[in-house]
Amino acid sequence: MTSAASVPVGSGVLVDMPGNAQLLVVQPQSGEFRAFNPACPHVGSLVNPPAGGVITCPLHGSAFDPSSGAVRKGPATSGLTQVAISVSGQDLLLS
Ligand code: FES
Repeated sequence: MTSAASVPVGSGVLVDMPGNAQLLVVQPQSGEFRAFNPACPHVGSLVNPPAGGVITCPLHGSAFDPSSGAVRKGPATSGLTQVAISVSGQDLLLS
C-alpha cells in the first residue's frame, strides 16, 4: 500500500487506492500507524493530514483525534472510519 518511511511522525499522507479511493495514513507517535477513510463524516470533504496533534476538516472545521479518529470538535457528530492496516517490514499493508 505504502512504505512506513513515507508517513511523517506526527502527521500523515493521503494514499491513492484502486478505484479513485484515497486513504489517510497517519503516524501520531513514532511506530504507531493508523489509517482512516479521509471523507469527513459531516458532509464528506477531504480531511487534512494531522498537524499539531489533530486531524482537521477544512470545510467547516471539524477536528478528529489522529489515534482513534474520534471527534474532538464538531460540526461532525461521528468520528472518521478507521481502516485496519499492519506493518510488514518497511511496508504498510491493508489487513
Ligand atoms: S465537511 Fe467536514 S466539517 Fe463539514
